[in-house]
Amino acid sequence: MSGRLIAPSLGELRKRKSTKWREYEPDVLPLPVAEMDYPIATPIIDAVTEMMHRSDTGYLGKFPELGLAFADFAQRRWNWQVDPESVRMTTDVGVATIEILRALGSPGDRVVIMPPIYPAFYNWTTEIHFPIVEVPLLKDGVTYSIDFAGLEREFASGVQFFIISNPHNPLGLIFTDEELKKIAVLAKKFGVIILSDEIHAPLTYKGETFTPFGKVSDEAREQVITLTSASKAWNLAGLKCSIFFTENGALHEKLEPLVKGIRSRASLIGAVSHVVAFSECDEWLESAIDTIEENSQYFAKLVAKEWPTVQISKPRNSYLSWVDFSSTRLGEDPAAELLEKSRVAISSGIPFGTGGKHHARLNFATSPEVLKEAVTRITPCL
Ligand SMILES: Cc1ncc(COP(=O)(O)O)c(C=O)c1O
Repeated sequence: MSGRLIAPSLGELRKRKSTKWREYEPDVLPLPVAEMDYPIATPIIDAVTEMMHRSDTGYLGKFPELGLAFADFAQRRWNWQVDPESVRMTTDVGVATIEILRALGSPGDRVVIMPPIYPAFYNWTTEIHFPIVEVPLLKDGVTYSIDFAGLEREFASGVQFFIISNPHNPLGLIFTDEELKKIAVLAKKFGVIILSDEIHAPLTYKGETFTPFGKVSDEAREQVITLTSASKAWNLAGLKCSIFFTENGALHEKLEPLVKGIRSRASLIGAVSHVVAFSECDEWLESAIDTIEENSQYFAKLVAKEWPTVQISKPRNSYLSWVDFSSTRLGEDPAAELLEKSRVAISSGIPFGTGGKHHARLNFATSPEVLKEAVTRITPCL
């Protein structure tokens, strides 16, 4: 049994100090950055409060509880056996990606991604001079699919890495076992290392099946490094903690020199809160999924009624909607115009790479009232 999570009033939310609530003027309704408006799970609040009362705010060292908690969660949720001892810890998925690429490659190594995609994939790789190779998802109306011929072409050309958002931000796509297996076979054939960013995975909707990439086949077990965190699903991004692991023994060894240095860049509060999230907060997670799934349906209904020419993705996971405004009066960057004209902040599609023009991403992990207000404000601008 799980209930709906209730977002605090806008007045309360505006007291938050996170970027979502500080970035814009007070008259702007913010629906951009991927964090949720709901109160976080009570066991996490209790655990962090208790740490504060004990002044337990020192440096983070070894934390075997985290690998154990995640391995248990992966077993319960996805029937996936993860070796707790293989689990490494760092600040966030961004730091993990950058440090793994640095450890396994060198500047100039090319990285394949499938846009439209979470913009930080561009930022992280650019920061360390690993050029991006885009293999855009194939678009047919609101349906997107993997361009396998494109992947094969680029893998064959000697790229070193492939980063996948599994499930996919911003589309809320879940890839099938068959699709993942096919990618793994190609990666093995051409020696491409796969970084599978599974940060949104726990937020998969009821009735949908998420498959961890590292679980699908022997090829996947050899080629994949999994990166994840409790930060999206339990709304802990500011507490700074993430994990990564691989079943490939040689890759695991190559990453060993990183371990001590990057572990201490996470926070003790982050590690403790992640252990609690993975081990004591299933019920809260079910409520979060129910809440965002209902909001997704509500938003789709509002769009069908108020914006009949606008197409939106049909997410099967998480709380992001990819909105195609190309049938409207808005130009290439609808988010910029809407911020100006309707005082609603959504994410510009342009940083999501090829396929991002005329699109924007809207975060619906808020109250139905805020969603309705956002739609009402935007309607006259279309
Ligand atoms: C696919 C994906 N990966 C990574 C992140 C960011 O993760 P972190 O804060 O752990 O770097 C996000 C945040 O929205 C995301 O959507």
